[in-house]
Amino acid sequence: MAYIVPHSEEATMTDDRTREQPPAEPHAQALWMPFTAQRSFQSEPRLLSAAQGMHYRSSDGRSILDGAAGLWCVNAGHCREPIVRAIQQQAAQLDYAPSFQLGHPVEFEAAEALARVAPGRLKRVFFTNSGSEGVETALKIALAYHRARGQGQRLVFIGRQRGYHGVGFGGISVGGIAGNRKMFHGALLPQVDHLPHTYDLEHQGFSRGQPEWGAHLADELEGLVQLHDASNIAAVIVEPVAGSTGVLVPPRGYLQRLRALCDKHQLLLVFDEVITGYGRLGAPFAAQALGVMPDILISAKAVNNGSVPLGAVFVRDDLMQTVLDAAADGAIELPHGYTSSGHPLAAAATLATQKLYADEGLLERVRRDGLDSHWEQALHALRDAPHVRDIRNIGLMGAVELHPDPQAPGRRAREVFHRCFDHGALVRFTADIIALSPPLIIESGQIEQLTHILRQALEQTR
Ligand SMILES: Cc1ncc(COP(=O)(O)O)c(C=O)c1O
Repeated sequence: MAYIVPHSEEATMTDDRTREQPPAEPHAQALWMPFTAQRSFQSEPRLLSAAQGMHYRSSDGRSILDGAAGLWCVNAGHCREPIVRAIQQQAAQLDYAPSFQLGHPVEFEAAEALARVAPGRLKRVFFTNSGSEGVETALKIALAYHRARGQGQRLVFIGRQRGYHGVGFGGISVGGIAGNRKMFHGALLPQVDHLPHTYDLEHQGFSRGQPEWGAHLADELEGLVQLHDASNIAAVIVEPVAGSTGVLVPPRGYLQRLRALCDKHQLLLVFDEVITGYGRLGAPFAAQALGVMPDILISAKAVNNGSVPLGAVFVRDDLMQTVLDAAADGAIELPHGYTSSGHPLAAAATLATQKLYADEGLLERVRRDGLDSHWEQALHALRDAPHVRDIRNIGLMGAVELHPDPQAPGRRAREVFHRCFDHGALVRFTADIIALSPPLIIESGQIEQLTHILRQALEQTR
């Protein structure tokens, strides 16, 4: 079924197409691609050459409905004019400014704009260039804080099985995705332990929103505290909704229990909101949507609509103050940062994005317009489609988990991904799970379109 591109989107992308013909050999040798089956890609490359609103354009000129917000990034839709303009103007005015011992006005304004949407006391912002760097930054800030208050022995981090926290050594250490750790296991942080993940098909299968079963899994933290002793633990880090592993929605009450246990043992609670940040659950952050306040919160991706790489780590104001107060006069209090922390282009894009989110009410749209219930219904209507083992949803994110082919686990989801792309929709896959997270500007007809293409792809997959 061909999707009709709305007029305005078609016009803009047609112009771009003439300019952006793919190179003669797009699958040529020089590029080593991230998290990609490179040899398969080279034999069958799929390329995106333009984007507008809800759609990509493939290099062979087809319109692709974006069911993944790129990579959980493009919450306001693609190539939005105010963001494009802000980046262009900033590039012409101040292209780069050194980030150490100097500042530039736009990064301060961007931090203020972010602090306005941040929950509770998370009003201090450290800029990085990615979610992975945000995770490393958060872990270091946790250590710096404990050290500053005379508790430098608190070195243990608690992550969670199936958690994804990017690709730095800290991130893969606290992360719980075996495939990302195996190759590098000799270089992981030494003092890390993991909570069990929260997914259980038998008790939670086809839950709509937060599953009723599983809050007790947070109590596993007590056992880890007994093992390591609270006095040695720096922080607990979790994604409020585990995204990359295939959208695992936290059971009702789970995060509240984790918070209470962290308070009891004086452990910092870090939320990795790289995916859930900026309106995905119908509030600025999952912390607000789910009513649980962390001490540190990591964001990236949609912070500026994915337009220029930037991560923003939010820190409780008193944590930052403790670190500042502990250092000698004139000393650098936190020996950490990046050449491009608060880069002018990324900061300008962040300011423009946050204004756009506010102007269009996008951070609340998912709940306000009942979009989440529509989304839930559309996804769960796929229950009778071939191979479906489970369906999960929260806010404007969802997953359709498939029964794996016993001979070739992962094949079905990969095929579905390819078929969807060929039928005109971008989805994501991990193992045998299809993950969905469209831009927050999606209209109900486009939700139908997306699930229709997905059903078609499932029906064509053996
Ligand atoms: C929860 C979470 N943390 C960290 C990251 C890493 O972000 P980046 O790829 O920008 O380094 C991701 C990326 O998907 C993520 O989902």
